Amino acid sequence: MQPNATRVRIISVVGARPEFVQVAVLSRELRRRHEEILIHTGQHYDAGMSGRFFEDLAIPRPDLNLGIESRSPSIQTGNMIGALASAIAPLDADLVVVRGDTNSTLAGAIVAKQLLLPLAHVEAGMRSYDRTMPEEINRVVTDHLADLQLVTDDDARVRLAAEGIVRGIYVCGDVMYDLFLRARERAAASLTESLSALARAPFALLTLHRAENTDDRERLRAIVDGFSDAPLPVIFPVHPRTRARLTEFDIVLPSPIVATEPLGYLEIVALECAARTIFTDSGGVQREAYFAGVPCVTLRDTTEWTNTVDAGWNRLAGADSAAIAAFCRDPPGVQPERPPLFGDGNAAVRIAAAFDAPETAAILAQARATRRARAHAAASER
Ligand code: UD1
Ligand code: UDP
Repeated sequence: MQPNATRVRIISVVGARPEFVQVAVLSRELRRRHEEILIHTGQHYDAGMSGRFFEDLAIPRPDLNLGIESRSPSIQTGNMIGALASAIAPLDADLVVVRGDTNSTLAGAIVAKQLLLPLAHVEAGMRSYDRTMPEEINRVVTDHLADLQLVTDDDARVRLAAEGIVRGIYVCGDVMYDLFLRARERAAASLTESLSALARAPFALLTLHRAENTDDRERLRAIVDGFSDAPLPVIFPVHPRTRARLTEFDIVLPSPIVATEPLGYLEIVALECAARTIFTDSGGVQREAYFAGVPCVTLRDTTEWTNTVDAGWNRLAGADSAAIAAFCRDPPGVQPERPPLFGDGNAAVRIAAAFDAPETAAILAQARATRRARAHAAASER
């Protein structure tokens, strides 16, 4: 802990792959300055989707794993809310921190407010403005519940202001950029011999797992068809959701696609840096394509990372086979400029500092007083 800092007792809630990546640098920084208790909801549980990230990225072991695995989204979220509430209530915490837009994010946000705990949202203020996406609902609700909004850039601050959220906003940069900068040098050495051999010749990288693509038979088939005549190998680490749907819908991957198990973070960063083009529906991978300076084709109709589109590095192809095929034949070129849209690699330091800023101290003190008054009132009623 740094001298003179106000030590805040923080509960960090994580559950899914992007949250492990987001917490990698942040956890270290939070622990330098504050106290952190890391709770894993269990949303992702396969070794390749969870445990491996903690090992490869030296993330502290979760203090608790609630073991809430996959169910329907509502049951999954409901189960997480119950389990998180029981876990967090006795911990005498000052603040709950959630990140991004998963069901674990939403559950952590709701529990924090039900327990009268201040809530901080890392990666706040992102919008695709498509409320058929579960992630958009999770972001909107979390932002409107949060007391502290840790945003990646000023555009996110402006989007929050347009929804009436104007207090507790800190522009910090992107913790995923912090990690990317620290990891990219050692990434290439992490590749297996077979991936390394593949990556020596030109190739495209594909990731695909968002529910709106995988759970819709026609969209999934159309996206896969788009790669049928690709002139380059297309390396495709397959998310378990996607693998299940490909089997269920009896969709066979065309020969240019080289399917692999989900990769570790260092492996995928190595491939991202070496790819000719990145095709993805992932929020994280769109940004990593930008960090790596590799043109991205986003397999969605909308994106919350519009800044990468505006900068000319990202194009939306939706699930349009013809558009995907055209981008395979004629890959988008690199742009002359790549402005620093995601900060300077010190987002985690800024976030940790925001948690002991004087305005935060006032929010935490006010919440503590409210909890004490409620506990006192409840005790006198008994
Ligand atoms: C979740 C997030 C999504 C994020 C993605 C990152 C929500 C609403 N969605 O989607 O925003 O982009 O994580 O990867 O929270 N499964 C396994 N093993 C695992 C994890 C999942 O087999 O370790 C399979 C299960 O069949 C499960 C399915 O994948 O039903 C979906 O998992 P779930 O966590 O519900 O959503 P994701 O699609 O992973
Ligand atoms: N990722 C990974 N292995 C893979 C696919 C993705 O390590 O096989 C990383 C990806 O590079 C990013 C993180 O997982 O850093 C989260 O991305 P994901 O696509 O799972 O979720 P999203 O960002 O869409 O929520």
